[in-house]
Amino acid sequence: MKKRVAVIGAGPSGLSLLRAFDSAAEKGAEIPEIVCFEKQGEVGGLWKFEEGKGVDEHGEIVHGSMYRDLYINGPKEVNEYVDYSFEEHYGKVIGSYPPRPVLLSYIRGRAEKYNLCAKFSVRFNSSVSKISYSEDTAKFTVTVKDRSTARNGTEAKVYSEDFDHVVVAVGHFSTPNVPQFPGLEAFKGSVLHAHDVRDLSEFRGMDVLLVGSGYTAEDIACQCFKLGAASVTITFRSNPTGCCNWPESIKEVPLLERVDSNGRTCHFKDGSSKDVDAIILCTGYLHDFPFMVGDELRLVAGNRMWPLGLYQGVVLETHPKVFYLGMQAQFYSFTMFDAQAWYVRDVIMGRLTLPSSTEEMVAHSRKWREAELAALAKLDVKPFQGDYVKELIRHTDCPITPEFVDKTQQMGVDWDKHKALDIMSYRDHAFVSAVTGNLARTHHTPWMQNFDDSLESYVNF
Ligand SMILES: Cc1cc2nc3c(=O)[nH]c(=O)nc-3n(C[C@H](O)[C@H](O)[C@H](O)COP(=O)(O)OP(=O)(O)OC[C@H]3O[C@@H](n4cnc5c(N)ncnc54)[C@H](O)[C@@H]3O)c2cc1C
Ligand SMILES: NC(=O)c1ccc[n+]([C@@H]2O[C@H](COP(=O)([O-])OP(=O)(O)OC[C@H]3O[C@@H](n4cnc5c(N)ncnc54)[C@H](OP(=O)(O)O)[C@@H]3O)[C@@H](O)[C@H]2O)c1
Repeated sequence: MKKRVAVIGAGPSGLSLLRAFDSAAEKGAEIPEIVCFEKQGEVGGLWKFEEGKGVDEHGEIVHGSMYRDLYINGPKEVNEYVDYSFEEHYGKVIGSYPPRPVLLSYIRGRAEKYNLCAKFSVRFNSSVSKISYSEDTAKFTVTVKDRSTARNGTEAKVYSEDFDHVVVAVGHFSTPNVPQFPGLEAFKGSVLHAHDVRDLSEFRGMDVLLVGSGYTAEDIACQCFKLGAASVTITFRSNPTGCCNWPESIKEVPLLERVDSNGRTCHFKDGSSKDVDAIILCTGYLHDFPFMVGDELRLVAGNRMWPLGLYQGVVLETHPKVFYLGMQAQFYSFTMFDAQAWYVRDVIMGRLTLPSSTEEMVAHSRKWREAELAALAKLDVKPFQGDYVKELIRHTDCPITPEFVDKTQQMGVDWDKHKALDIMSYRDHAFVSAVTGNLARTHHTPWMQNFDDSLESYVNF
């Protein structure tokens, strides 16, 4: 009997796995039965804009964390599918930093080109609520809520099926990390986590405080400035954003200590203070797998380049029949997901053999952690993730080549330079595709002046 594989999530990483199996089938291999469960009604993961905030009508955290006016923050060429270029999708060369819908269409375009939702069983509106493992049967029982059956107050149908392997591809940027600060509850303006930001023009004319200094804080500061916020104060815990050329109205200060009893004044650790109208917690997300039953099935990780617990960054060391895709912090997103997917596919298909003991896997991961720490000490982790992608692809027939990685690494170097020159105009630069060799178009309107985030406006000119 064929092995059965459950894939949880049809975002970019789940789709990479489907494409990996599809590519093996194209070459004549007999592949396992794949069932992909996706709680939303369509593929695309985070790239599908969700109006909703907080908790949805099924009592689950809304998956979407992207705002309407989001543009990608690294050149699209770094994460171009080697088997499906942007040029192939759009029939023309487009710019290097498109808005969100351009990426969503592209992700869906590859799924359509290879007919992934027809070739595999992709069950939409299917939220996985529980996964347990039985030593007796050597199977996973996956319990699923069929959201499409919940109508007019009736409970959704819940059913279970057994599988030989589980691949978790649910992303890790949806469950907000919400720290508390003294006095925050009495703040008189709006307080929200970046997960619930949908439209940054809401903050026009306001003095805004951002807590955190990751890419979310950096990008929301840029967007607030572009869309007319009066000022942005970024308050950081460990280090400032690293941006060296903020405009006058954007300042960085040490961490928020407390909100004054007047409900307006924020006091910071360096003794300074600022009156603000809104506070946005850009404090990141939690790796959250509530459906995994038992510690040995559940990955515990933070947003870093090398989370421990995953052999080769994908195989769960405590239960090597379970795989997690895309759990790392991401310079490479789609590129890394493809490299991981081909690797996982080959482990499942028995083409790759895992070390015989957990200790060997753990020791291997520890070496990667040491390399990650060394990269962090050099203040540039992009080459580390490039090395990781190269490590994965050398084991499989994944179409990504070491040359592709080298070219995209250079893009990372140029990206840093462009940002250091001018944070508000780095998105106006154009890169050469490592897939087609063609230079991207310079967009018709500089990012700072472009207020039309539609696909049509970006692509048709
Ligand atoms: C604000 C923001 C901006 C970003 N910008 C960029 C960018 O510019 N460039 C870039 O490359 N990356 C960016 N990213 C990173 C982004 O995480 C990846 O591009 C990509 O979306 C990750 O794909 P994924 O499939 O791993 O996860 P997701 O995109 O999160 O997809 C996971 C899928 O799993 C489904 N799912 C979740 N739980 C369940 C369940 N229990 N049962 C069934 N299905 C489930 C979800 O509905 C979703 O479809 C950004 C992330 C954020 C938060
Ligand atoms: N396309 C785009 O333009 C765009 C826009 C937004 C986000 N993104 C992506 O979204 C992903 C997530 O980025 P992120 O910035 O949300 O998460 P992140 O990189 O994990 O950063 C979280 C930030 O919050 C801080 N923080 C966490 N807990 C805190 C606490 N208790 N008190 C104070 N500060 C705290 C962290 O500080 P420490 O440094 O001290 O830990 C860090 O600065 C990234 O992949 C990013 O590229 C992309």
